[in-house]
Amino acid sequence: MRWAALVGGTGSNLRALIAAGSPIALVVSHRPGVGALDIADGAGIPHIVLDPRQHSGRAAYDAALLDVLREADIEALVLAGFLRILTAPVVRAYAGRAVNVHPSLLPAFQGLHAVRQALDYGVRVTGVTVHIVDEGLDSGPIIFQEALMVHPDDNEETLSERIHAIEHRLLPEAVRLLDQQHLSIIGRQVYIREE
Ligand code: GRF
Repeated sequence: MRWAALVGGTGSNLRALIAAGSPIALVVSHRPGVGALDIADGAGIPHIVLDPRQHSGRAAYDAALLDVLREADIEALVLAGFLRILTAPVVRAYAGRAVNVHPSLLPAFQGLHAVRQALDYGVRVTGVTVHIVDEGLDSGPIIFQEALMVHPDDNEETLSERIHAIEHRLLPEAVRLLDQQHLSIIGRQVYIREE
Protein backbone atom coordinates (compact mmCIF):
# COMPACT_ATOMS: atom_id res chain seq x y z
CA MET A 1 0.00 0.00 0.00
CA ARG A 2 1.04 3.60 -0.46
CA TRP A 3 1.32 5.19 2.99
CA ALA A 4 1.40 8.84 4.04
CA ALA A 5 3.07 9.77 7.31
CA LEU A 6 1.34 12.67 9.05
CA VAL A 7 3.85 14.46 11.26
CA GLY A 8 4.50 17.68 13.12
CA GLY A 9 7.55 17.20 15.32
CA THR A 10 11.11 16.03 15.44
CA GLY A 11 10.37 13.02 13.24
CA SER A 12 12.09 10.28 15.23
CA ASN A 13 9.21 7.92 14.50
CA LEU A 14 9.35 8.83 10.82
CA ARG A 15 13.05 7.97 10.88
CA ALA A 16 12.26 4.61 12.48
CA LEU A 17 9.57 3.88 9.87
CA ILE A 18 11.94 4.68 7.02
CA ALA A 19 14.69 2.56 8.60
CA ALA A 20 12.26 -0.35 8.91
CA GLY A 21 11.36 -0.08 5.22
CA SER A 22 7.78 1.11 5.72
CA PRO A 23 6.36 2.11 2.32
CA ILE A 24 6.02 5.85 3.04
CA ALA A 25 5.20 7.62 -0.22
CA LEU A 26 4.36 11.05 1.21
CA VAL A 27 4.99 13.06 4.38
CA VAL A 28 2.52 15.75 5.46
CA SER A 29 3.41 18.09 8.32
CA HIS A 30 1.01 20.43 10.07
CA ARG A 31 3.99 22.54 11.11
CA PRO A 32 6.62 24.22 8.96
CA GLY A 33 10.31 23.90 9.76
CA VAL A 34 10.15 20.71 11.82
CA GLY A 35 12.77 17.95 11.91
CA ALA A 36 10.38 15.45 10.34
CA LEU A 37 10.50 17.45 7.08
CA ASP A 38 14.30 17.30 7.04
CA ILE A 39 14.17 13.55 7.56
CA ALA A 40 11.68 13.17 4.66
CA ASP A 41 13.90 15.36 2.53
CA GLY A 42 17.01 13.34 3.38
CA ALA A 43 15.20 10.13 2.46
CA GLY A 44 13.95 11.57 -0.83
CA ILE A 45 10.30 11.25 0.18
CA PRO A 46 7.90 13.90 -1.18
CA HIS A 47 6.79 16.18 1.65
CA ILE A 48 4.36 19.01 2.10
CA VAL A 49 3.38 21.42 4.86
CA LEU A 50 -0.31 21.98 5.45
CA ASP A 51 -0.39 24.85 7.91
CA PRO A 52 -3.68 25.18 9.84
CA ARG A 53 -3.20 28.96 9.91
CA GLN A 54 -3.74 28.99 6.17
CA HIS A 55 -7.12 27.27 6.39
CA SER A 56 -10.38 28.61 7.76
CA GLY A 57 -11.11 25.74 10.13
CA ARG A 58 -10.89 22.01 10.73
CA ALA A 59 -13.27 21.09 7.91
CA ALA A 60 -11.40 23.21 5.36
CA TYR A 61 -8.06 21.88 6.61
CA ASP A 62 -9.13 18.27 6.33
CA ALA A 63 -10.65 18.86 2.88
CA ALA A 64 -7.25 20.16 1.73
CA LEU A 65 -5.56 17.18 3.41
CA LEU A 66 -7.86 14.74 1.62
CA ASP A 67 -7.11 16.42 -1.70
CA VAL A 68 -3.37 16.04 -1.11
CA LEU A 69 -3.73 12.40 -0.07
CA ARG A 70 -5.95 11.50 -3.03
CA GLU A 71 -3.69 13.32 -5.46
CA ALA A 72 -0.81 11.10 -4.28
CA ASP A 73 -2.94 7.90 -4.35
CA ILE A 74 -2.40 7.36 -0.64
CA GLU A 75 -4.09 4.22 0.69
CA ALA A 76 -3.12 4.27 4.37
CA LEU A 77 -1.99 6.74 7.03
CA VAL A 78 0.49 6.61 9.87
CA LEU A 79 0.24 9.46 12.37
CA ALA A 80 3.52 10.15 14.15
CA GLY A 81 3.48 13.45 15.95
CA PHE A 82 0.49 14.85 14.03
CA LEU A 83 -1.12 16.84 16.81
CA ARG A 84 -4.55 17.26 15.25
CA ILE A 85 -7.73 15.26 15.49
CA LEU A 86 -8.86 14.14 12.06
CA THR A 87 -12.45 14.94 11.12
CA ALA A 88 -14.98 12.39 9.92
CA PRO A 89 -14.34 12.70 6.15
CA VAL A 90 -10.64 11.77 6.56
CA VAL A 91 -11.29 9.07 9.16
CA ARG A 92 -13.97 7.50 6.96
CA ALA A 93 -11.81 7.66 3.83
CA TYR A 94 -9.10 5.72 5.71
CA ALA A 95 -11.28 3.66 8.06
CA GLY A 96 -9.22 0.81 9.48
CA ARG A 97 -6.20 1.97 7.49
CA ALA A 98 -4.85 4.71 9.76
CA VAL A 99 -2.66 4.17 12.82
CA ASN A 100 -1.45 6.52 15.53
CA VAL A 101 1.20 6.23 18.23
CA HIS A 102 0.58 7.76 21.64
CA PRO A 103 3.04 8.01 24.54
CA SER A 104 0.87 6.55 27.32
CA LEU A 105 -1.11 3.47 28.16
CA LEU A 106 -4.46 4.60 26.79
CA PRO A 107 -7.06 5.44 27.90
CA ALA A 108 -4.84 7.12 30.49
CA PHE A 109 -3.39 10.52 29.60
CA GLN A 110 -5.01 11.26 26.25
CA GLY A 111 -4.17 14.40 24.32
CA LEU A 112 -1.14 16.63 24.50
CA HIS A 113 1.86 16.25 26.85
CA ALA A 114 0.98 12.69 27.85
CA VAL A 115 4.44 12.06 29.34
CA ARG A 116 4.18 15.16 31.50
CA GLN A 117 0.62 14.22 32.50
CA ALA A 118 1.86 10.79 33.63
CA LEU A 119 4.73 12.30 35.65
CA ASP A 120 2.42 14.90 37.23
CA TYR A 121 -0.03 12.16 38.19
CA GLY A 122 2.75 10.18 39.80
CA VAL A 123 2.11 6.85 38.05
CA ARG A 124 4.74 4.15 38.56
CA VAL A 125 4.04 2.52 35.20
CA THR A 126 3.28 4.17 31.87
CA GLY A 127 3.87 3.11 28.28
CA VAL A 128 3.09 3.34 24.60
CA THR A 129 -0.09 2.66 22.66
CA VAL A 130 -0.38 2.11 18.91
CA HIS A 131 -3.98 2.24 17.80
CA ILE A 132 -6.32 2.56 14.87
CA VAL A 133 -7.47 6.14 14.28
CA ASP A 134 -11.11 6.98 14.81
CA GLU A 135 -12.94 10.28 15.18
CA GLY A 136 -12.14 10.67 18.89
CA LEU A 137 -9.08 11.83 20.78
CA ASP A 138 -6.63 8.91 21.02
CA SER A 139 -9.61 6.59 21.26
CA GLY A 140 -9.50 3.99 18.48
CA PRO A 141 -9.04 0.19 18.75
CA ILE A 142 -5.68 -0.78 20.22
CA ILE A 143 -3.11 -2.73 18.17
CA PHE A 144 -0.19 -2.75 20.62
CA GLN A 145 0.55 -1.57 24.12
CA GLU A 146 3.81 -1.85 26.00
CA ALA A 147 4.45 -0.74 29.55
CA LEU A 148 7.56 0.64 31.19
CA MET A 149 8.42 1.61 34.75
CA VAL A 150 8.71 5.26 35.73
CA HIS A 151 11.96 5.75 37.67
CA PRO A 152 11.84 7.92 40.80
CA ASP A 153 14.32 10.37 39.27
CA ASP A 154 12.70 10.50 35.81
CA ASN A 155 11.91 13.84 34.22
CA GLU A 156 10.00 14.48 30.99
CA GLU A 157 13.15 14.17 28.92
CA THR A 158 14.48 10.91 30.37
CA LEU A 159 11.08 9.22 30.36
CA SER A 160 10.32 10.43 26.81
CA GLU A 161 13.60 8.95 25.64
CA ARG A 162 12.69 5.45 26.86
CA ILE A 163 9.15 5.85 25.53
CA HIS A 164 10.47 6.84 22.12
CA ALA A 165 12.62 3.72 21.95
CA ILE A 166 9.48 1.61 22.41
CA GLU A 167 7.52 3.67 19.86
CA HIS A 168 10.25 3.18 17.28
CA ARG A 169 9.83 -0.59 17.58
CA LEU A 170 6.03 -0.83 17.82
CA LEU A 171 4.94 1.68 15.18
CA PRO A 172 6.80 0.18 12.19
CA GLU A 173 5.59 -3.27 13.25
CA ALA A 174 1.96 -2.07 13.31
CA VAL A 175 2.42 -0.50 9.87
CA ARG A 176 3.88 -3.75 8.56
CA LEU A 177 0.99 -5.81 9.91
CA LEU A 178 -1.65 -3.46 8.51
CA ASP A 179 0.19 -3.13 5.20
CA GLN A 180 0.36 -6.89 4.80
CA GLN A 181 -3.29 -7.27 5.84
CA HIS A 182 -2.53 -9.22 8.99
CA LEU A 183 -4.93 -7.17 11.13
CA SER A 184 -8.68 -7.68 11.50
CA ILE A 185 -10.65 -5.11 13.43
CA ILE A 186 -13.95 -6.23 14.91
CA GLY A 187 -15.55 -3.60 17.10
CA ARG A 188 -12.84 -2.51 19.53
CA GLN A 189 -10.83 -5.72 19.16
CA VAL A 190 -7.84 -5.94 16.86
CA TYR A 191 -6.81 -9.47 15.91
CA ILE A 192 -3.35 -10.18 14.56
CA ARG A 193 -3.03 -13.08 12.14
CA GLU A 194 0.48 -14.03 11.11
CA GLU A 195 0.59 -16.90 8.68
C1 GRF B 1 5.65 10.77 19.83
O1 GRF B 1 5.98 10.71 21.19
C2 GRF B 1 4.26 10.26 19.62
O2 GRF B 1 3.86 9.33 20.57
C3 GRF B 1 3.41 11.50 19.73
O3 GRF B 1 4.20 12.51 19.18
C4 GRF B 1 5.58 12.20 19.32
C5 GRF B 1 6.25 12.37 17.99
O4 GRF B 1 7.63 12.30 18.11
N1 GRF B 1 2.15 11.30 19.08
P1 GRF B 1 8.55 12.29 16.81
O5 GRF B 1 8.26 13.53 16.01
O6 GRF B 1 8.24 11.03 16.03
O7 GRF B 1 9.95 12.28 17.33
